[in-house]
This record gives sequence, C-alpha cells and structure tokens, in this order.
Amino acid sequence: MRILVIPGDGIGREVVPAAVEILHATGLPLEFVEAEAGWGCFERHGVSLPPETLVAAREADAILFGAVASPSYPVVGYRSPIIALRRELDLYANIRPVQQPRGGGLGRSDGPIDLVVVRENTEGLYVGQETSDGETAIAQRVITRRASERIARVAFELARSRRTQSKERVTSTAPTPASSLPKVTIVHKANILRETCGLFRAAALQVAAEYPDVAVDELLVDTAALQIVQQPQRFDVIVTTNLFGDILSDVASAWGGGLGLAPSANIGARHALFEPVHGAAPDIAGRGIANPLAAIGCAAMLLEYLADRRLADAGQPMGAAARAATDRRSLAEQCRSWAVRIRAASEQVVANGPHTPDLGGQATTAEVTAAVIATLQMEP
Ligand code: NAI
Ligand code: MG
Repeated sequence: MRILVIPGDGIGREVVPAAVEILHATGLPLEFVEAEAGWGCFERHGVSLPPETLVAAREADAILFGAVASPSYPVVGYRSPIIALRRELDLYANIRPVQQPRGGGLGRSDGPIDLVVVRENTEGLYVGQETSDGETAIAQRVITRRASERIARVAFELARSRRTQSKERVTSTAPTPASSLPKVTIVHKANILRETCGLFRAAALQVAAEYPDVAVDELLVDTAALQIVQQPQRFDVIVTTNLFGDILSDVASAWGGGLGLAPSANIGARHALFEPVHGAAPDIAGRGIANPLAAIGCAAMLLEYLADRRLADAGQPMGAAARAATDRRSLAEQCRSWAVRIRAASEQVVANGPHTPDLGGQATTAEVTAAVIATLQMEP
C-alpha cells in the first residue's frame, strides 16, 4: 500500500515524519513516497503544487499531508495546494473527530464528548465565485443535490460504523453515547437561506430515510454553535455545509485538547488525504517542540481508511479469487487493529505525558513520538 507523504511547510516538516515513524513501527506493508507542495516549494520552483505531486497523489493509496504556509501578502500565481488537492482529487468529505482527552479539553463538561463533524468540502460559499464593484460585493453560494446527498451518506454510514466500532473498542476509554441509536444532526440555516440550505436539508433528510437504524435531528447553525459549547455530549455525528462545518469544527476542536491533538480526513470516492487541523505554526517551527499527536491521529485515521478500502475490495468472491480476498481481509484487520492501538497509545501519552509545551510540558516532538512508540511496543 503506497502512502504519499507531503510534509509541506513549517511544523508540517516536523510532525509528518513523526507520524511516518509511527506507521513504520507497525511493520505493516506500507511504502512511503515523498512529494513537495506549499510555500517553500513555490519559492524554490515557482509552483505550490507541482504536477508531479498531483500525479503521485492520484497514484497513492492514501496521502499524509502536514501543513502549508501562505504568504501574508498577495503573491501572483500562488494558490493554496490543499484547496487545489481537495478539488483535483474530489475529496468531498472533510471529517473531523473530537474526543475529550481524560482531564483535558476546553473545560469541564457534563458527560463524555465523542463527536465528529462531517463537512461538505467542495461547494457552498467556498466555490470562490465573488464579484465586487467596490460598493457591493457578492459571493455565490452553490449547493447541489448531488453533493448534499453524498455528504449526508458519508455521515450516516459513519454514524453506523462508529457505533459498531465503539462496541469493539476495548483498549479505548472512549464511551459509547448514552442513547441507544447512533445519531446524525443535520445543521443548516434553512429558515433564512431557503433555497440553498433548504436544498441541503431536504437532500439530507431524504438520505436519512434510508437509515432507520440511525436517529436524525436537525439544528439551525447558530443554535448548533451554542450547543457545541453548552452541551457537546448531545452530539454524535454532525453533517453540514462547507463554511458552517469549517467554523463548527474549530469550535468543537477546543473540547479535544486543542490544535495539537486534532486530526482530520479529506475523503472522496477514489482518494483520501489525512492532515492535522493545525497550520504551519511559524511561531514554533524549527524548534522541535510541535505536538506530533494530531499528525499521529491522522496516521490512525489513514489506517482505518486503508482497512475499509481493503474490505471493500475483498468483496465475496468464489474459487481462486477467494484466497486473495482472505489476504485483503486479514490486512484490513491488521490495519484496523493498529489504528486502535495507535489511538490508545496516544491517549495514554496525553494522560501521563510526556507533553509538548502546548499541553503544558517541556517535551520535544521526538520525545513524545518515542513515548507513543514505546507504548505501542508494550504487549497489547
Ligand atoms: P496554526 O495552526 O499554524 O497555529 C496556531 C497556533 O497554534 C500557533 O500558536 C501554533 O504555535 C499553535 N500550534 C498549532 N499546531 C501546533 C502543534 N502541533 N503543536 C503545538 N502548537 C501548535 O495557525 P495560524 O498561526 O493561523 O497559521 C500559520 C500558517 O499556517 C499560515 O500561513 C496559515 O495560512 C497556515 N495554515 C495552513 C493550514 C493548512 O495547511 N491546512 C491550516 C491553517 C493555517
Ligand atoms: Mg478552519
């Protein structure tokens, strides 16, 4: 299985190697290929996403991405490689899980927090269709039934599989939500944005009807923001449009212990890219003190994705193809079990240290990475 590694800029170059080290430590049959993108790449080659990086991205089984810096002044010809990758590879689902670490997070809450924001990643207000005559500026908000349905389907499938996995999760301390059914909350503002949010809402509710085993509710985006702060434990999976999802996932991430711990996935029908939520962090870059746990969380998400893909490829073949399918299934199980172990090891390091300065400690990136590996290598 080939992993394309794009460290990018700033602390991306420090935390991505840490995540690769963890993946190496699993002994899984992974092949790593590295490629360039970002601001440093633009300064060296005049292009932020070289064509060969895009080709390598298309050929990889999964992509591990660090972060890229953007110049603070307008630069002709520079465009964000992560936005370009999302569009070129049609990575339509942005998935950001938030789990409250033991004794950490924004503050005290009334119960366990284990939620995921599923954000539509390709349209909405982020299509970049803006005009202005200097007095009036207008942005287009594009919502399609196709994109709304497919993101809703991702959310309902995820809600279902999270519930199955949480029953299997023995090493993790993550609790199963209190209610008996998994739940998807559709977040919109259809009372004001009647056409755009109206279409998103209708499409999502239509998909909901295909999942009688998943509870559904809906919230206006402003109420959702308040409830993420006041009652975060009421949420399981949240599905919403691009801009709302961008904002709500940042709010929710505060419960998860902050940027140093927040992983994310960008998933499409054929490709997937995993990146920490944080950016290039120029204020701490080069000092070896960036928290690698967000990137390591990405490594766990990546293995889960590879497991799902192996299972999907295995199918139910007969005869000669059956043995290959069995191999794929066993590889899928190994990937999934390593994902669980990596998460459990990270949780243990968050609970007991060592901690990088963002979590109040004095440890380096290398020390935290070594601690995760040491925990992984203990008997499961
Ligand atoms: P940032 O996420 O890079 O940093 C925000 C704050 O969090 C900083 O104080 C930083 O030191 C801290 N921080 C972030 N990650 C950390 C980690 N792993 N360990 C310890 N501390 C951590 O966001 P900021 O400062 O707004 O942006 C910096 C640059 O990154 C900009 O050029 C921005 O455009 C870019 N950026 C790139 C993103 C991406 O590649 N997807 C996402 C966000 C920002
Ligand atoms: Mg954001």
